Amino acid sequence: KAPELPPAADQPTSYAELLGHGGETHQITTAALTMTTQQGLPIADGQNSLKAGPRGPILLEDFILREKIFHFDHERIPERVVHARGYGAHGVFELTDSLADFTTADVLNTTGQQTEVFVRFSTVAGNKGSFDLARDVRGFAVKLYTQQGNWDIVGNNIPVFFIQDAIKFPDLVHAVKDEPDRGFPQAQSAHDNFWDFASLSPEAWHMIMWQMSDRTIPRSFRTMEGFGVHSFRLVNAAGKSTFVKFHWKPRQGLQSVLWNEAVKINGADPDFHRRDMWQAIESGDFPQWELGVQLFDQETADKLPFDHLDATKLIPEEDIPVRIVGTMTLNRNVDNFFANTEQVAFCTQNIVPGVDFSDDPLLHGRNFSYLDTQLKRLGSPNFTHLPINAPRCPVMNFQQDGHMAMRNPVGRANYEPNSWGADGGPRENPEMGFNSFAAELPPTTKQRIRSETFADHYSQARLFFTSQLPIEQKHIGDALVFELSKVERVDIRARAVSHLRNIDGGLAATVADGLGMALPDAAKAAKPTQDLPPSP
Ligand code: HEM
Repeated sequence: KAPELPPAADQPTSYAELLGHGGETHQITTAALTMTTQQGLPIADGQNSLKAGPRGPILLEDFILREKIFHFDHERIPERVVHARGYGAHGVFELTDSLADFTTADVLNTTGQQTEVFVRFSTVAGNKGSFDLARDVRGFAVKLYTQQGNWDIVGNNIPVFFIQDAIKFPDLVHAVKDEPDRGFPQAQSAHDNFWDFASLSPEAWHMIMWQMSDRTIPRSFRTMEGFGVHSFRLVNAAGKSTFVKFHWKPRQGLQSVLWNEAVKINGADPDFHRRDMWQAIESGDFPQWELGVQLFDQETADKLPFDHLDATKLIPEEDIPVRIVGTMTLNRNVDNFFANTEQVAFCTQNIVPGVDFSDDPLLHGRNFSYLDTQLKRLGSPNFTHLPINAPRCPVMNFQQDGHMAMRNPVGRANYEPNSWGADGGPRENPEMGFNSFAAELPPTTKQRIRSETFADHYSQARLFFTSQLPIEQKHIGDALVFELSKVERVDIRARAVSHLRNIDGGLAATVADGLGMALPDAAKAAKPTQDLPPSP
């Protein structure tokens, strides 16, 4: 017997719906809309506390006052440790090209099948109350409520990342966020600590080229690309696995603002991006993205001039074209920001049968981190019971209790094995169930190490820079001069420019000139850069 499912819908969208009138135009009676306490007690006066006389002190026995204040006092939950400022919307994903040859994942098998989604866009560094148009990477997190469980593609609007190993993530985030002694800057990369960290981390410079480009000042959430970043794997019915990189391509096109515009918009309307998306959806102008995949096998991976398990590298679309397989449409705004956008919990670990991880060390760290942080942020291991996080397929297991449990085992048994027959609850299903696949490499001696195949830090940074139009290259140079001019320590400036020398000599000279400094020596490279063809 399947336990009752949690409600799939959000909170009621209107009081008429709440009262069971299905949203029809209805004259709601005063009695039906009587305000109550959290216990359901009708409230006669919620505006005046109980006092000892008109000018007397408040009386402790006023439980209505105490409940209201108590609840208010506990309204805040910790903001996300990163990606604190975000905005979400509901929608639908429709498969247009079946990947049945590559994966058993139901959501990627049947053309025309629609799957409910929730998407949250975010900035990374700024706090929850910061402004939308900071120069920053944008999060692009998609939750697909599939028939085989929730599948989260927790990506960014940039296809690569700053670091190669999750153990560096706390350092990166500390360096990116406000400085610990002074508590600023709250939302920008223009400060000594970030550039100190960056100038000491050669692996960061490919991402820095993207970060200094117009991509980090998008015109709208609707005009951003999304990337799953890591290599994942698709696994078919025969158990054959194929590497895959995920892409979201905006039907609205890719658009950015200029830095001067970003600065003005932040002052005039710090909510620019969330307002833009809310208004578009509200007016029926639903934003759409195409889901694309880059598929490749181990043989192809072995021939790439870099290691695809290194999250600071992308696979050029010229080498492995992106195959479009579906369309995502955002068509419904949240009706309660906190219940949906704040309480949603994405995790790279949320995959479905037919999808699997690669051995990317950054991905493995993420798989641990999200669940851990969400226990703290949402306060209970039962956060999957919240409607926004609850799967839309049956959930059956013997996990029970804990704070705020709304879904417990049903029937006689809460353990396995058991001999209670039909009343004994769910059983494993070896055919349909998720099978974790053997590691790609045979086990080896454990060591704290970085693979030599991760050592070329500059080739793709140069590839990105040279692929840009002259005006885009100028914007990157301008952004670097602006950001580095805010760095007070000149040795950090010099170290940063020394990395640019390994990326593009002309760019390094322009930035050094803009900063009024002599051109430093090139940074010592761990591995020589590849000879890349000149930009077209
Ligand atoms: C949050 C993307 C690397 C830890 C997020 C979010 C996104 C994201 C989009 C916001 C999710 C939301 O909207 O709720 C990425 C990408 C990464 C990356 C694309 C690299 C490819 C990492 C790493 C770690 C990490 C290496 C830690 C080892 C976190 C944490 C949160 C977060 C703790 C907050 C989650 C929450 O409170 O719900 N990340 N991230 N991320 N990320 Fe990452």
